[in-house]
Amino acid sequence: MKATAIAPSNIAFIKYWGKKDDELRLPTNGSISMNLSGLTTTTTVEFSLDYKKDLIEIDGNKNKKEIDRVIKHLDRIRNIAGIDKKAKVVSKNNFPSGTGLSASASGFAALTVAAVSAADLKLTEKELSILARFGSGSACRSIPDGFVEWLDGDTSDESCAVSLHEANWWDIVDVVAIVNLGKKDVPTTKGMEIAGSSPFFQARLSSIDNKIKIAKKVLEKKDFTRFGKLLESEALEMHAIAITSSPSLIYWTSGTLGVMKQVKMWRKAGFESYFTINTGQDIHIICQKHDAIKISNLLKNQKDVRDVIINMPSNGARLVNNHLF
Ligand code: DP6
Repeated sequence: MKATAIAPSNIAFIKYWGKKDDELRLPTNGSISMNLSGLTTTTTVEFSLDYKKDLIEIDGNKNKKEIDRVIKHLDRIRNIAGIDKKAKVVSKNNFPSGTGLSASASGFAALTVAAVSAADLKLTEKELSILARFGSGSACRSIPDGFVEWLDGDTSDESCAVSLHEANWWDIVDVVAIVNLGKKDVPTTKGMEIAGSSPFFQARLSSIDNKIKIAKKVLEKKDFTRFGKLLESEALEMHAIAITSSPSLIYWTSGTLGVMKQVKMWRKAGFESYFTINTGQDIHIICQKHDAIKISNLLKNQKDVRDVIINMPSNGARLVNNHLF
């Protein structure tokens, strides 16, 4: 059977940076995110005896490591379903990958939902989220709708993502600035492996539960100023860990820094917005709906900004009918 799914990428307001169990992909802490309407992956999967080996096409990407990671994920699903048919997988992102826009989140969420359906399995949202987590941690947050919490669990069964609020809960906007076309030089999984080498990592862990509590409260109250300040300082804290890891990891480029400084200036001028950054040079500007067009125009005038993508909160991964092959 053939099945196709579309999944959003997500932006973490409270970040996942470090694992307590690499094999199970259990993060050192919980995290909070929003699914993004404008950054999606669409994936079609078909299991068939006609295929003599797995045929994987990801946006024309021939990277063997990426392809092996997809095959490993298919194996997990084949194991659960008790099938040994090979698969054809075609996957397309509507945005650049490897630049900080979390293509692995949307990619593994879409792959999970499409492959599970193609294998004729019926899984709950919780089971899909746990399965997506094995592909890439942040992918578990792209399964439920809207604003999402990835629960801090000590076992695989406890480590799943749940929806805190539907997508229409709060009409905040994530204006993504694509800063240049370079790929990050250290992949996220590798970067995270050395998080514990930062002298500040334990300090982060000692305050993170409280931070999550506050983030949930301000999200509930829709207190934009407190929410914005919190998410921006959290992004800087995560990058402080990366920068002070051994070896140090600097994901920003001069273009990223230029936008960070501008956001602070726009704030002073009355356009309230806050930045957050994942692993890569691209930067997410979080603002309220009434400021989104203005912020996006301001960003387009920045020297190093190549493109701007406006994202509203969105639903999570879902099946669709338009197959890619
Ligand atoms: C900085 O989910 O890509 O974007 O589990 O190793 O695949 P793996 O990591 P991944 O990490 C995302 C890290 C982050 C922060 C976040 O999205 O929470």
